[in-house]
Amino acid sequence: MNHARTRLVMGNWKMHGSLADNAALLGGLVAGAQRAGSAQLAVCVPFPYLAQARQALSGSTVSWGAQDISVHDRGAYTGEVSAAMLADFEVSWVLCGHSERRAMHGESSALVAAKAAAALGAGLTPVVCVGETLSDRDAGDAECVIGDQLEPVLALGAESLSRLVIAYEPVWAIGTGRTATPEQAQAVHAFIRAALTRHGAAQTRILYGGSVKAANASDLFAQPDIDGALVGGASLVAEEFLNIAAAAA
Ligand code: PGA
Repeated sequence: MNHARTRLVMGNWKMHGSLADNAALLGGLVAGAQRAGSAQLAVCVPFPYLAQARQALSGSTVSWGAQDISVHDRGAYTGEVSAAMLADFEVSWVLCGHSERRAMHGESSALVAAKAAAALGAGLTPVVCVGETLSDRDAGDAECVIGDQLEPVLALGAESLSRLVIAYEPVWAIGTGRTATPEQAQAVHAFIRAALTRHGAAQTRILYGGSVKAANASDLFAQPDIDGALVGGASLVAEEFLNIAAAAA
């Protein structure tokens, strides 16, 4: 399906949740999902809760995703989860290369692109995360770093690029309460859009992430190259997440 830049508001629960807390949160999202209007609403949950998300969200307009994926199909890869396993749980989305995985698990940009390819191969939509650190930005290297992160993803080609999503998440804005200004975010989104356009994928959606909340969402969504948000902390509270969705509607 080609969602020609349909707005997308995606929660990233990270390592948060419990069966009881999730039941309340997912129930709240289903109850308020119409507030997203024509925007898509999704949550990326920890692996053990995919079955719960599937059960709670099936038949609703809220879709679910995972936070990571293996590049391997099967085999002796203890702790890894394959694309086919995710597809078994009707997962729509997979985060690839979140900055926390790049930083704490040493994921290279080549590995991240391979993960995106594995997801695409199973019919899942990868959400490839890129973003610079504060020292990169202060050194004037933000575009250079993001360009390097994008390079192996761009090499997947136009057809693949048309089926994935990019999330720009400046590392210094994640979980810090310090959002990029709409202008700072737009400048990087325009840079990413230009790269995608050169590779024949001008319509690929680009989400912004990093301390998005209801109070700043509208200004971010007003930018021409911001197609939605990847939301961490604020996605753990149904009302706040739905308020962000309403700003995208
Ligand atoms: P945050 O996280 O919204 O809590 O800053 C965003 C993310 O890491 O995806």
